[in-house]
Amino acid sequence: MKRIIALIVALVFVLGVASLTFAAPALDKCNKCHKGEKSLEKVVAAKKIETTDALIKAVKASPKAELHKKFTDDDYKAVAKELKLK
Ligand code: HEC
Repeated sequence: MKRIIALIVALVFVLGVASLTFAAPALDKCNKCHKGEKSLEKVVAAKKIETTDALIKAVKASPKAELHKKFTDDDYKAVAKELKLK
């Protein structure tokens, strides 16, 4: 019986850690650079970005578009979802 409880506790722990690590993988990629005042949550709010398309356009219109070359539309879609854009 003790073993089963230990197993369950271990399982819950592993799942908890895993869900923390994988909670927002797309946004984490952006937030390596987009920190604090420049966090994407703030950028999106300040520029009133409401859709995935608007997010992609804002990136491409940015003078720093070069820094975003390695990202694909799928990355932006995933980020938009995590930011709860339309
Ligand atoms: C290598 C660092 C880096 C990464 C990674 C990065 N960005 Fe950026 N991003 C920047 C910099 C620097 C700017 C210019 C910031 C400024 O003008 O204040 C910028 C600007 C932007 C802008 C335009 C903001 C504006 O005010 O016009 C958007 C939108 C944006 N990034 C989205 C993203 C998204 C979405 C991701 C993740 C898929 C991402 N960025 C990942 C460095 C990065």
